[in-house]
Amino acid sequence: MTIKEIFDSMAYGPAPESAAEALAWIAKHQGRFGHFIDGQFTAPGETFTTHNPATGKPLAEVTQGTSEDVARAVAAARRAQPKWAALPAFKRAQYLYALARLTQKHSRLLATLETLDNGKPIRESRDIDIPLVARHFSYHAGLAQLLPSEHPDLQPLGVCGAVIPWNFPLLMLAWKVAPALAAGNTIVLKPAEYTPLTALLFAEISREAGLPKGVLNIVTGDGTTGAALVDAPVDKIAFTGSTSVGKRIREATAGTGKALTLELGGKSPYIVFDDADLDSAIEGLVDAIWFNQGQVCCAGSRLLVQEGVAPRFYDKLKRRMDGLRVGDPLDKAIDIGAIVDPIQLKTITDLVAANPEGQHYRAPCPLPAAGSFYPPTLITGLGTASPLMQEEIFGPVLVAMTFRTPEEAVALANNTRYGLAATVWTENINLALDVAPKLKAGVVWINATNLFDAAAGFGGVRESGFGREGGWEGLMAYLKPAAKPVALKPAQPVPAPQEPQVDTLDRTAKMYIGGKQARPDSGYSQPVYGPKGKLLGHVGIGNRKDIRNAVEAAHVAKGWAKTTAYNRAQVLYFIAENLSARATEFAHRLQDLTGKPGQAEVDASIQRLFTYAAWADKYDGHAKSVPIRGIALAMNEPVGVIGALLPDECPLLGLVSVMAPAIAMGNTTVLVPGVAPLSATDFYQILDTSDVPAGVVNIVTGPAPDLAKSLAGHMDVDAVWSFSSHPLSALIEREAAGNLKRTWVNHGKARTWMGPEGEGRTFLSQATEVKTIWVPYGE
Ligand code: NAI
Repeated sequence: MTIKEIFDSMAYGPAPESAAEALAWIAKHQGRFGHFIDGQFTAPGETFTTHNPATGKPLAEVTQGTSEDVARAVAAARRAQPKWAALPAFKRAQYLYALARLTQKHSRLLATLETLDNGKPIRESRDIDIPLVARHFSYHAGLAQLLPSEHPDLQPLGVCGAVIPWNFPLLMLAWKVAPALAAGNTIVLKPAEYTPLTALLFAEISREAGLPKGVLNIVTGDGTTGAALVDAPVDKIAFTGSTSVGKRIREATAGTGKALTLELGGKSPYIVFDDADLDSAIEGLVDAIWFNQGQVCCAGSRLLVQEGVAPRFYDKLKRRMDGLRVGDPLDKAIDIGAIVDPIQLKTITDLVAANPEGQHYRAPCPLPAAGSFYPPTLITGLGTASPLMQEEIFGPVLVAMTFRTPEEAVALANNTRYGLAATVWTENINLALDVAPKLKAGVVWINATNLFDAAAGFGGVRESGFGREGGWEGLMAYLKPAAKPVALKPAQPVPAPQEPQVDTLDRTAKMYIGGKQARPDSGYSQPVYGPKGKLLGHVGIGNRKDIRNAVEAAHVAKGWAKTTAYNRAQVLYFIAENLSARATEFAHRLQDLTGKPGQAEVDASIQRLFTYAAWADKYDGHAKSVPIRGIALAMNEPVGVIGALLPDECPLLGLVSVMAPAIAMGNTTVLVPGVAPLSATDFYQILDTSDVPAGVVNIVTGPAPDLAKSLAGHMDVDAVWSFSSHPLSALIEREAAGNLKRTWVNHGKARTWMGPEGEGRTFLSQATEVKTIWVPYGE
């Protein structure tokens, strides 16, 4: 091509990055890799091949990890953990800082190897993935340094297992390894089978950093290796990947006491209002859906455009798509690289081919003859129920529909089982900040998209999983209270005595649903005896239908979340005031139920109500110091409907300690009292006189295991807590897998309700989701 021709066409020439160093690194290992266990590479065992998706050619042989390999890695991590945790924080910070610096030093090699193994454009691995990895380790060096002074009452969990996907191989490693090590844990990480190489290179780099042996272990392999790690004796599993595997891991870890965070799939809305800067919104969209070939959990894959500008927006978008360049990912002038594997390419191709509805527009760009490539695709005119609108395609395919009003935009945006991220484009900041809190998502970007930083929490709600990665909130998922746990003694209801002392009056306490007393659906009730054999009354035997009614009432009451925090504080003070007015009566009731003087428990309950009235407007969010011109707001939002199995050991204080933080943060609740339920059923008289809106607190009495199953299995419950002395933790965690609701269960461990352990930030963080809202500044 002559220079004149180049000036005429303005076409890009090739700008290839050399693969020589990365291939030399593979060759240095004879193209065959074992695991990295206890600071050493093991001899390769039975291997599988990892390919370059851009050419389909083999890159290296990698070992398929067996459960014995996993066991050895976990044992090494276990041996190393006490010493690692005992290091001064400054020492751990130095190691993390060294990992950050060495990532920067080897950034070119890491970026090239990542692109070879994954197929993502070198522009992205060089300018986004690897710099974010360095930033993550550097930020966590800081967290490691500050942890003992900021949280002296917390300690590491122990050994963490991490299973990561193939879309951001090294970045996902950093998201797991950095917080685990900063908190004083050791880790065994299993990279995805398609993309294991940068994890192995990182293992080598960790030796250069002098990381003590056993602190970081890498075991390669496929899903069976991942499953073996999930089953291994680790203290936590951190998983990123598909929702289906996330559910399986939730079930597999149920009742084991292993901590769990899940960062799963999404179908994130990208909302364009008619006053948006359309050209910027188009550029944002290119990053939202064609970044990493659309293989991004938070990809803005569902475009919602306001009707008035839709035709113009689609035209502009198609023109922009025509200019996208698909090709060799090592070419620095390429926009879109290769799909990770022929299997993933087939998944995308089949899903699109099976759903011909709507108008399909494929960018006319030429695709390379070899390798796994898919053209940028736009599908407009779809209905909300179309599988293409609902399913995660995980490829460069954007689906679109229009909306008329902001309310409709929010309704469409939330019409998904996922809740990972959302993007809002409008020049009207009032509109943007009005819409952002209404979106069911863990992250919202305003007039920007796909912004990430170690300081800002990332993670989802609903079937996008639970837990946050990044920021202090992410670190918390790798820590536990320093106090030694004590086993909780199972409590039994007082059995019917030979000769009960019976009052002449029948006192059958009803349940409390939607602000009204409700008879049990079963039509049956059970007696409640005091320890001396006195019949104190009866309570209804609740069942699945009562739970359903209570959950429905809790949903109807969700306007509670929109009341001001000041208002919620006033209601809690009012509850305290009314309880105080009837303190003697409640103290007598407690004495009858427990045989012990009840005054101290009533006093503690009133105090606790004051605590959460105080917290209601003081559990502030944060403005995160992210490296952009702008802010990332970490807002605490209510979780939604929380179902809770109340403690058996303190009937009134237990109820108050669980109810108050939940409603202070704007949640609505379904509460199941323990073995001495009459204080709870008395308590609704207090609620009735304290301006608590109907449905905010619902009380269902009955057998804890049955009601726990119904609550945990209910698709419209957002979280289930259990402080019951029944062994319900496994049941709740297993049932919760259905919609991946959050769980907070005691695993048979006692809590001192009278002391500081019975209240405070742990309760508040369980009662809230952190939503990160990114707001860039400037014109
Ligand atoms: P996947 O969820 O199967 O794989 C993620 C990781 O989990 C890999 O390391 C894999 O080896 C491991 N794994 C698989 N089965 C396991 C099990 N039973 N126990 C423990 N670990 C297990 O994802 P896959 O098959 O690679 O992709 C399938 C679909 O999942 C994609 O088309 C996409 O829709 C979605 N996906 C979503 C991701 C996200 O970040 N949201 C990431 C990767 C995939």
